[in-house]
Amino acid sequence: MELKDKIDIKTLPNHIAIIMDGNGRWAKKRGKIRIFGHKNGVTAVRETAEAAAELGIKYLTLYAFSTENWNRPKYEVNALMHLLVQTINKEIKTLHDNNIRLLAIGNLKSLPKNSYNELMEAINETSRHDRMAMVLALSYSSRWEIVNTTKIIAEKVKSNNISIDDIDQNMFSSFLTTSSIPDPELLIRTSGEYRISNFLLWQIAYSELYFTDKLWPDFRKEDLYEAIIDYQRRERRFGMISEQINK
Ligand code: FPP
Repeated sequence: MELKDKIDIKTLPNHIAIIMDGNGRWAKKRGKIRIFGHKNGVTAVRETAEAAAELGIKYLTLYAFSTENWNRPKYEVNALMHLLVQTINKEIKTLHDNNIRLLAIGNLKSLPKNSYNELMEAINETSRHDRMAMVLALSYSSRWEIVNTTKIIAEKVKSNNISIDDIDQNMFSSFLTTSSIPDPELLIRTSGEYRISNFLLWQIAYSELYFTDKLWPDFRKEDLYEAIIDYQRRERRFGMISEQINK
């Protein structure tokens, strides 16, 4: 029996989010510079997106560049931005062919102008596709997002558009950059690090977490299948007890 056949298609996670980590270490192990790892990370992105779409996953969110990543050496930041534009240009046809819609979350205005423009163009061009949404988290951090959302709501209260009593979890969610995206049921992190690193802190309140030692450039379809099979073995109780879930 192949690994893929062990997946129960009826209980697939609707949304999988991934912290793609370990590109630098992957390159270092091969005596290469970090960018080599990022470039090879693109293969893993393609494989994972393909596997997710084939299975019927509806949302795949990838942590591609964090707010904190701006602090990396300038040449690495530039190379990552270049890789982003290059990858979008190269893969846009794959997105069309596979009916995949591109979305992005984060402080997108802080991206270099050409990266921002390319990104927006690809988002517009793929906006009608509905098999799966691939969400790139770019210049994203959860604390930035939560503070940003608080400011938006505070402005609306100030201008009497909403009252303080209207603020609840649903309203707050509706002003996050993920407002059109359901919360992930499964969060995967590669490279053997057991951290969340400021990613989707609000949205992962009830997500299942899966960690693997694989470095991101080595991540393949089978690794995604393993994560999903592991997820499907778990019991999600949302604060209730087992008997309430299984009645
Ligand atoms: C983390 O590895 C990875 C990143 C910060 C960038 C991820 C980017 C890609 C996979 C390529 C581009 C992706 C798209 C969607 C176009 P790290 O550099 O922190 O590795 P380390 O922990 O081993 O140093």
